[in-house]
Amino acid sequence: MALIGVFDSGVGGLSILDEALRQLPEHDYIYLADSINAPYGEKSSEWIASRSMELCQYLAAQGCDAIMVACNTATAEAIAQIRNQLSNIPIIGVEPGIKPAAMQSMNGIVGVLATEATLKSDKFTALLATLPNCQFIKQAGAGLVPLIEAGQANGEETLELLAEHLEPIQDAGADTLVLGCTHYPFLRKAIRKLLGDSINLIDTSDAVVRQLKRKLEAQGKDLDEGTCGSIKFISSKDAGTLHQMAQELMQSDLDEHSIESQLVGTFK
Ligand code: DGL
Repeated sequence: MALIGVFDSGVGGLSILDEALRQLPEHDYIYLADSINAPYGEKSSEWIASRSMELCQYLAAQGCDAIMVACNTATAEAIAQIRNQLSNIPIIGVEPGIKPAAMQSMNGIVGVLATEATLKSDKFTALLATLPNCQFIKQAGAGLVPLIEAGQANGEETLELLAEHLEPIQDAGADTLVLGCTHYPFLRKAIRKLLGDSINLIDTSDAVVRQLKRKLEAQGKDLDEGTCGSIKFISSKDAGTLHQMAQELMQSDLDEHSIESQLVGTFK
């Protein structure tokens, strides 16, 4: 059994934790939401890199055997530095799934909804350059993360804002949409309402958790004992709300796990 640290700017990484609990329920998890600082997507590269480093160092100090950077924005800005500093444990990041999208798209037109920081990052630009035969319509989802953090994923305001953001993607005739921020899988219902059932939605949580599984297997830590491990929810803002939102947003039955929640003010 392993202790896995999962971190995001807020509740977005719960979409990754959900998949991790589905595939690897026997492990113990610490979920760290830096909600006091969400959204990260409109902050500077330097700020995102240094805060992400600080939080990963905190998780490593808690004894985590692996860390999932369950945030596209933090992965884009900080993963290399985190891997460099914490070289003794696997660090798994998450990137917009533009490769699977390019492979699955029938008409070669793919929408990418992600944060401004992710879309502007060198890492994402380099990834795009490897796929010259596909047309990507990039759209920053400004304003969506705060609404999801406020529990409004299916609210009227969210639907209106999302409709604005999706318009250029729809107008271009995209048949595939990449959910390039871990908060956005929680907008699936709203996206389906606006774009219908035919658009192919790509989120990479399954692939990311399979990568974690491979890393744990390599360490001899992938032991399926048929039991459910514990989950500790840590928030920089409000641990009770985080736990409650996890219950609302996730498909997993959290009652099968022993749960603890904690407010942490400083991660130094
Ligand atoms: N959930 C994060 C991501 O995947 C960050 C969103 C934000 O805080 O702006 O990019």
